[in-house]
Amino acid sequence: MSTKTARAYPNIALVKYWGKRDEALMLPAAGSLSLTLDEFATTTIVRVDDTVAEDQFVLNGAPQSGDSLGRVTRFLDLVRSMAGSSAPAAVDSINEAPTGAGLASSASGFAALAVAAAAAYGLDLDRAALSRLARRGSGSAARSLVDGLSVWHAGDGDETSFAEPVTGPDMRMIIVTVDSRQKAISSRTAMRLTALTSPFYQGWVESTEASLAAMLEACRDNDFSRVGRITESHALRMHAVIQSSDPPVRYLSPTSIAIFDEVVALRDAGVEAYSTADAGPNVAVITRPDDAERVATALEQYGEVRIVSAGPGATLIDTPAKAAE
Ligand code: PMV
Repeated sequence: MSTKTARAYPNIALVKYWGKRDEALMLPAAGSLSLTLDEFATTTIVRVDDTVAEDQFVLNGAPQSGDSLGRVTRFLDLVRSMAGSSAPAAVDSINEAPTGAGLASSASGFAALAVAAAAAYGLDLDRAALSRLARRGSGSAARSLVDGLSVWHAGDGDETSFAEPVTGPDMRMIIVTVDSRQKAISSRTAMRLTALTSPFYQGWVESTEASLAAMLEACRDNDFSRVGRITESHALRMHAVIQSSDPPVRYLSPTSIAIFDEVVALRDAGVEAYSTADAGPNVAVITRPDDAERVATALEQYGEVRIVSAGPGATLIDTPAKAAE
């Protein structure tokens, strides 16, 4: 029996991932770039246990079944095939972010699971290999292996599609939680729908590679304004391509749009802030560190506001004494 614990944080993309070119290997249609956060952690304990009949998965104290357990079991199957093991595992996970509301809880979830499960099954993987492994659970999880700014390369195939660190401007992110309920349609399903039905999909994929190249240059130049402009325009392009699916999918709510407008008004008043949003109505706004309080105050009227900074990539931590018994 072997028990390992890992902690991982979500990441919010500044250049978004939306669409796969290989669903089985979870290879993205284009590269992306994100900021790993220092809040909303997932802590996951994996106990490899020959004495249990099958995998178990408990999330925030609730035993899981159906799709939720299925995704974890399929991921553990991959780890077992790499480790040459057939032993089941008990997975116990605490997620501090609201699940499924576009705060990328699947990213922290699969990053923590990848690190804990690899160690519990005795695999000795470097960061790039852990990022590739996490990618198989949820694409965006590949980026949560990395501290702070992280670029996930589309790659030529499984071996080359992983995330690595990027240096760029220091920033804060203001997360505005508009609605913490589970989203109506998962990113996995909606991505597939967009790729199959949007007449703009090809343009989206090609322009994302161009946005990523521009973003990497802006990061290299430490140019916060350019990073911000690319972030906001790229987020709106993603939501545009999602809305152009058939049937259409819309994640942004009227309140989300009001926040985007408020951020434009802040810029007009001389405060540099830029918005983005994932597959849900919540909005993340980037600012320079000194402007964070002022922007957060302006956004309080729209929902619960949290100021977050760059956080660490997924790592092993000590197993809590109670769980180790
Ligand atoms: O990896 P998934 O299935 O959680 O998809 C993430 C998709 C977005 O959050 C909308 C964009 C991104 O790059 O994180």
